[in-house]
Amino acid sequence: MRGLRARLVVVFAVLAGLSALTAAGLVYKQARDLMLTRTEWSVVNEFRLRVSTLTENMQHPPSRAALQQLANGVAPAFLDATGVAVYGDSGLIASGDGTAPLGPDLRRRVTAEQRLVYQRVVHDGDPYLVVGTPVLLRREGTPSGVEVYLISSLHAEAADQEALVAAARNGVLPVLLLAVLFALVAAGGVLRPVRDLDRAARRLGAGELDTRLKATGRDELARLVQTFNATAAALETSVGNARRFVADVSHELRTPLASILAMADVIEEEAGRLDGDLPEAARLLNLEVGRLVKLVEDLMEISRFDAGAVGLVVDDVDVAEAVAASLRTRGWTSDVTVDIDPGVRIGLDPRRFDVIMANLVGNALKHGAKPVTVALTGDVVIEVADSGPGIAPDLLPHVFDRFSKADAARTRSDGSGLGLAIALENARLHGGDIEAGNRPGSGAVFRLTLPRNLS
Ligand SMILES: Nc1ncnc2c1ncn2[C@@H]1O[C@H](COP(=O)(O)OP(=O)(O)OP(=O)(O)O)[C@@H](O)[C@H]1O
Ligand SMILES: [Mg+2]
Repeated sequence: MRGLRARLVVVFAVLAGLSALTAAGLVYKQARDLMLTRTEWSVVNEFRLRVSTLTENMQHPPSRAALQQLANGVAPAFLDATGVAVYGDSGLIASGDGTAPLGPDLRRRVTAEQRLVYQRVVHDGDPYLVVGTPVLLRREGTPSGVEVYLISSLHAEAADQEALVAAARNGVLPVLLLAVLFALVAAGGVLRPVRDLDRAARRLGAGELDTRLKATGRDELARLVQTFNATAAALETSVGNARRFVADVSHELRTPLASILAMADVIEEEAGRLDGDLPEAARLLNLEVGRLVKLVEDLMEISRFDAGAVGLVVDDVDVAEAVAASLRTRGWTSDVTVDIDPGVRIGLDPRRFDVIMANLVGNALKHGAKPVTVALTGDVVIEVADSGPGIAPDLLPHVFDRFSKADAARTRSDGSGLGLAIALENARLHGGDIEAGNRPGSGAVFRLTLPRNLS
């Protein structure tokens, strides 16, 4: 789940980040282009104007002083620029300290093309706009051989550009943070129904067949919830049918089985007078019918739990006495050591408590071995321990499942495998529990926990 959430957050954040970056980038480029074009145009126009004014009355050929005047004139002191004038072999006559760059490339273009040319250059890391034009003789309109240049620093524009980048970055960062926050919230919103579904599916798997989810909206998740609900309903119906079938069948079997058992009893009583294998057959018949009767009774009992048709008849009971009574009824008193002080009284259903004890102690004697002890080890925890081989490790996790038994080769069990399932249902009905385990030495131990105050 966390992986899906992280992935959603990343996707959201990347999308939002990309959009913010793209928007900022576009704005930046647009603004920069606008700014530069404007600067270029105003510089070039200003230059053109100045040159035409300054050369209007210029003598030809120009004196050195006139050239200097021209250079100074196109680049007045208040401009961050340098003017340059050239005529014949006069060399470059520059305004100010005259250290601005004037590449040969531009000069070549001005003389070759005989028109105003401008270009952007970077010199020593600083950006400049260089404009140059030939000066035409006013009357003839022919080249005078004079060239004028203006090298204007774009330093201010570069600073403005940096400010733009900073502004874009400062605008994008909060947006990105917001996007991540939003992504976290949105991912949570998307994932909540998924988490609900996960929890519901677990509950369904744990046997809570009436688990349903509320479907809201009409999106894919809502449809998934509907499918889940439909599946849960179908499962509940089919499990319900199966349980009802078991309950009905057991009920139908009970009456004829009771008659068969009674007849088997009669036959066994009379078996002494029979010959050959018949007495043994009669004994086996009685035994098997007895097991069948117990199986049917257990099935009916489990069915009652499944149908929720069970209740507690609570009494205030002395634990030591209740255990003793259980053992006495089954003639196990001499087989089991009981370590429970009298006087511990709790509320429980004596009949159901007897069912639990009968199966736990019965298992200890049948599947385990003596000595078997029943001890009160906590408030209220009753431990039934034996000295047998213990519960097979592969059986241990399923030992409370219905019909689960150790594999036939290793067991002398003739039980149905329903005993522990019924015992656990009875403990849970009290609000208690049973845990199974093996003792470090040898033997199994079952720990029955019951609430001290049954509400
Ligand atoms: N004390 C124990 N020592 C070893 N194995 C045990 C012990 N108690 C239970 N088991 C194993 O757990 C299985 C399930 O026990 P459970 O009481 O549910 O059924 P059962 O005793 O076989 O039949 P039933 O109780 O219905 O007559 C047993 O068949 C046995 O393999
Ligand atoms: Mg049993």
